Amino acid sequence: MPPLHERLMELAVSRGFLLPSAEIYNAPGGFYDYGPAGAALKRHIQEQWRRIFITEPGFLEIESCNVLPQAVLVASGHVEHFADPVTECTKCHQRYRADHLLEQKTLSSWAGLSPSDLNAGIKEHKLACSNCKGELGPIAWVNLMFPTYIGAGIENQAFLRPETAQGMFLDFKRLFVQQGSKLPLAVGQIGRSYRNEVSPRQGLIRSREFSQMELEYFFSPMQDKIEGFEKIENETVRVLPPTDGDAPLAVEDVSLRDAVSRGYFPNEILAYMVYLEDRLYRSLGITHGKYRFRVMPRDELPHYSKGNVDLEAETSYGFIETSGIAYRTDFDLSQHAKHSKQDLSVFVDEEKKRLIPHVVEPSMGVDRTLWCVLESAYRPAGNGKEWEWFAFPPRIAPFVAGVFPLMKKDGLDELAQNLTAVLRAAGLEVYYSQSGSIGKRYARADEIGVPYCITIDYETKEKAHEAGGPTVTIRYRDDGQQERVEISELAAKLLQLVKSDKVRKE
Ligand code: ATP
Ligand code: GLY
Repeated sequence: MPPLHERLMELAVSRGFLLPSAEIYNAPGGFYDYGPAGAALKRHIQEQWRRIFITEPGFLEIESCNVLPQAVLVASGHVEHFADPVTECTKCHQRYRADHLLEQKTLSSWAGLSPSDLNAGIKEHKLACSNCKGELGPIAWVNLMFPTYIGAGIENQAFLRPETAQGMFLDFKRLFVQQGSKLPLAVGQIGRSYRNEVSPRQGLIRSREFSQMELEYFFSPMQDKIEGFEKIENETVRVLPPTDGDAPLAVEDVSLRDAVSRGYFPNEILAYMVYLEDRLYRSLGITHGKYRFRVMPRDELPHYSKGNVDLEAETSYGFIETSGIAYRTDFDLSQHAKHSKQDLSVFVDEEKKRLIPHVVEPSMGVDRTLWCVLESAYRPAGNGKEWEWFAFPPRIAPFVAGVFPLMKKDGLDELAQNLTAVLRAAGLEVYYSQSGSIGKRYARADEIGVPYCITIDYETKEKAHEAGGPTVTIRYRDDGQQERVEISELAAKLLQLVKSDKVRKE
């Protein structure tokens, strides 16, 4: 059997979740378009993030520009440090990420090691070019940003943003004033980021254009509590604590309160963000036992960080970091203040003094998360279904329902089209289909994870004018069972089913 990710990628492409970008030109890898099913699934994942992260009181959403002047990225450190260690074949000049090559060979992480360690690793493990078996050359740092220019001249160097986060730092001061000059202030956005990965691989996991959902929570370092923590402090999350000497790593189910008191999480705010990420993953149907929050050991932390926690999900590629949460202190605002020569400090009433706020940043990858959703929801054929299908939670499925006339004649098609319009007007995302046998249409709906199918049959037509009104059938995706429902109650019934996650008749 091929690994799940190979089969899943075939299904994703053939069923309209993903399309290789510019495929007819045999374009370079690392770029994916989302087809109709994938674009809807992605939008619903993003809406779910918005529902969980932005509905908190005082949390704001912005949309900032993708092109950033060089000065911004000099200040943020990306121009100097956002680079990967690359080795080039001395014969055929194929380039590789040295840490990834070593990781594949040794099955352990080489992230963050120095060029001399990586050079030594390549020698020790006798790594050669997989293309021509040529010798691999010394490590060079290659910056990951896509450069561009603003305007006609080449003097205005700029870059496509490598993360959405900078927008929140750049807009901070104005937003702070607009919002009444108070801390805490949380600002987030969903948007595209661009990284010119040396060797894009594993489909959506490492691509060159992807989307992030990021939030910057600005707060006074003297007030590192967060409102509402007492309500959630007993919730448990799966934590992989930092390595303790040679002790083997073991995942623990630990309450948020204990995770703070044991020092796994540096403060309540970061713990609260772990809780929100956990809530999001549960709501997306990602199997709970298949992800964990890895606490980064001190020696891996960037110099300005007071704590990083990565959400790692177990996929058929192995454990993948799909999101991270970082306590970035005042690093970013201080850097921008220094380089722009603007005062980014704010007056904090409680302390009666000016200070540069600290930041905790939950940074989530949309595409890696979407891949986890596909893996979690994938169901092989069997148990009454002769086709592979997806068991998405109804709230994120590409469509809530398909609306089908049993036959495309005798006015059933017209009734079904009218019903489609009525359901859409009620705010439900439904699609209409009349082609192929009804069994095929049910199968096609299952194949993209649509939880309900509505069928208009002859009984609907015959009883159109009877008291009580006409009825239609609802077919439930997971058990294929059906029930009759009055049309007048259908929209409310579908909304209720989605809300209660009901995907079987019983
Ligand atoms: P990696 O070490 O895997 O390159 P990273 O540590 O550089 O990832 P971050 O810089 O923390 O990742 O980015 C935040 C999030 O953005 C990641 O958790 C991931 O979900 C997403 N992301 C980063 N790079 C890519 C990429 N090339 N393709 C898809 N998503 C990405
Ligand atoms: N803003 C965090 C990251 O993209 O790495």
